[in-house]
Amino acid sequence: MAAQDTLAQRALATEPEAVIRVRDLKVAFGEKVIMDGLNLDVMRGEILGFVGGSGQGKSVLTRTILGLVRKSRGTIEVFGENVDTLSPPKRRVLERRFGVMFQQGALFSALTVKQNIQVPMREYLHLSPDLLDEMAMVKLDLVGLPPDAADKAPSELSGGMIKRAALARALALDPEIVFLDEPTSGLDPIGAAEFDELIMTLKQTLGLTVFMVTHDLDSLYHACDRIAALADRKVIAAGPLATMLASDHPWLKAYFGGERAMARLPAGERELHT
Ligand SMILES: Nc1ncnc2c1ncn2[C@@H]1O[C@H](COP(=O)(O)OP(=O)(O)OP(=O)(O)O)[C@@H](O)[C@H]1O
Ligand SMILES: [Mg+2]
Repeated sequence: MAAQDTLAQRALATEPEAVIRVRDLKVAFGEKVIMDGLNLDVMRGEILGFVGGSGQGKSVLTRTILGLVRKSRGTIEVFGENVDTLSPPKRRVLERRFGVMFQQGALFSALTVKQNIQVPMREYLHLSPDLLDEMAMVKLDLVGLPPDAADKAPSELSGGMIKRAALARALALDPEIVFLDEPTSGLDPIGAAEFDELIMTLKQTLGLTVFMVTHDLDSLYHACDRIAALADRKVIAAGPLATMLASDHPWLKAYFGGERAMARLPAGERELHT
C-alpha cells in the first residue's frame, strides 16, 4: 500500500500541474466587454509569456486573477481552489503566495528601496525591524542590486535598477507565482536581456512560476517556456513558440511573421518557420 502511495505521488509530481486555471471568464466595465469566454492555464514552474495588442486586456486579466477586478462570469482556480469560495483568511494565505510587479507605479516614490521591499512584509508578517532589514537585504542581493541601493529613493535609481527593486518587492514574501506586467519595457536590450536572465535563474533556483505580460520578442523567444496570446477577448493560442508560429490567426501572423519578429527569431526556429 505504502509503495503504491509513493508511486501515485511520484506520478502526480511529474504530471504537469496547472497552478492557475481560468475558465469561461467574462470581464466587462459597464457596457464595454474586455474578455468573454477566456480560458487559460498556467503550469507550475513555467515562465508563461502573455501577449496581445495594446488595450486588449492583459493587465485587466492579471488584475482579475489577483482578485482586484470583478469578473462577471467564469471560474478562476489557483492551486486547485476556486477563488470565489475562499474564506477571507484563506484568501489572505493565497495572496501571500503571489508576488506582483504592476505595469504602472512599480515603486512608492516616497519610500526608500528597502522600505518598498518591506511593504508586503509589514502587511503580512510580524517581525522585528532588524529582521525586516535583514530580509530586505537578502531580497536586494537576490535581484542583483548592491547593498547601498537599500537607502536610495526610487528617483535616484536607473530604470533597470527600479525594475530590479520592484522585482525584489514582488519576491518579498517568497511567493510561488509572480506576475510581471511588462517588466522589461523601457529597458535597453542589454538591460532587458539581463532581467530575463534573472527571471530564468529565479525560476530555476526558487522553482517560481512566472506569468509575464510582455511585448518583448527577445523575452518571448529566449525566456518563456510557453506563450499565450490574447485577441478577440479570448486566449486565441497557447503553447510553445512553435504553436504561435504555426497559428493562422491574423494577429499572431502579423506579430510573429513580421520582418522585425522574423529577424530576431532564433536560427533553428526560423528554418522551421520558412
Ligand atoms: N478600471 C477600469 N475601468 C474601465 N475600463 C478599464 C479599466 N481598466 C482597464 N480598462 C480598459 O480595459 C481595456 C484593457 O486594458 P488593459 O490595461 O488590460 O490593456 P493591456 O492589454 O494591458 O494594454 P497595454 O499593452 O497597453 O498595457 C482598455 O480599453 C482599458 O481602457
Ligand atoms: Mg497593460
